[in-house]
Amino acid sequence: MNRKVTVVGGGNVGATLAQRLADRELADVVLIDIIEGLPQGKGLDIMEATPVEGSDARVVGTNDYRDTAGSDVVVITAGIARKPGMSRDDLLNTNYKIVRECTEKSLEQSPDAILIVVSNPLDAMCQVAYKVAGLPRHRVFGMAGVLDSARMRTFMAMELGVSVENTHAFVLGGHGDTMVPLPRYSTVSGIPITELLPPEKVDAIVKRTASGGAEIVSLLKTGSAYYAPSAATAEMVDAVLKDKHKVLPCACYLEGEFGIRDLYVGVPAQLGERGVEKIWEIKLTDAERAALHRSAAAVKELVDVLKL
Ligand SMILES: NC(=O)c1ccc[n+]([C@@H]2O[C@H](COP(=O)([O-])OP(=O)(O)OC[C@H]3O[C@@H](n4cnc5c(N)ncnc54)[C@H](O)[C@@H]3O)[C@@H](O)[C@H]2O)c1
Repeated sequence: MNRKVTVVGGGNVGATLAQRLADRELADVVLIDIIEGLPQGKGLDIMEATPVEGSDARVVGTNDYRDTAGSDVVVITAGIARKPGMSRDDLLNTNYKIVRECTEKSLEQSPDAILIVVSNPLDAMCQVAYKVAGLPRHRVFGMAGVLDSARMRTFMAMELGVSVENTHAFVLGGHGDTMVPLPRYSTVSGIPITELLPPEKVDAIVKRTASGGAEIVSLLKTGSAYYAPSAATAEMVDAVLKDKHKVLPCACYLEGEFGIRDLYVGVPAQLGERGVEKIWEIKLTDAERAALHRSAAAVKELVDVLKL
């Protein structure tokens, strides 16, 4: 039997994710949205590419949650995206209602699914999905760190003129202005960039990473990034479906790890078919730990507004 992935939200991120999953023949994909015709049209269009791509994945677009029944993974990308001048936090109240509804309806049909949240503000929306779902924490987590790390890797490769394949990066913390890129753990073939670049170049990479989303928003003028976000989400889905035990930075519910409790924050997590198999509590310097706690405090401020 084919694996089944539901992508909730057939907008830029959702549809591009559906395409990536189908192209890679990772699973059958159901794309669901509230706009009539939109997921059906995009789903059919993606499906019609499969003969060319050589993939036998089936792709269905729908407005009816019954079509999503029995999914192994549900990815929530529904909600509004940023416009220029908006922060991710400006999306809070609108996306809260949307993520709540999508979580409830998806789990009614797929009670055993792993839930991956993409909608912003990411960490707060994970907290919403977790509370509504009532699932163990290992089955609800969010995508942000893989994207932020991919951005950092891109800038590292551009600066050093090396293959992106040689790069590795870790960006932890909340998915916002307070995110915590970790240069010490960001390497080219295992060598930390702090040993390869002068401090001002490292600083510039860190700053560009932290404002990587805003850079795209200001260029696009309408909407936000979706190629890299969908690629990052596909990597997480892949790790789950193939039970890869892959360590990736993910927004996870912390219960004391890194000294943080009852809150979603980006940390290194090992992903497999059970979802988050393990949180890797890597050693941080005092400054890194303080930055992570500042970022967690910013997430908590948002979560407190929602009074979950
Ligand atoms: N975590 C990350 O790193 C990251 C990266 C990029 C985008 N995002 C977030 O992902 C979300 C989607 O971004 P996008 O660019 O695809 O936006 P988009 O506007 O292109 O698509 C959003 C889709 O959600 C649908 N939708 C709205 N309410 C719904 C509901 N109740 N049920 C089902 N579908 C519903 C809309 O009809 C629309 O098609 C945004 O919140 C954005 O900020 C997060």
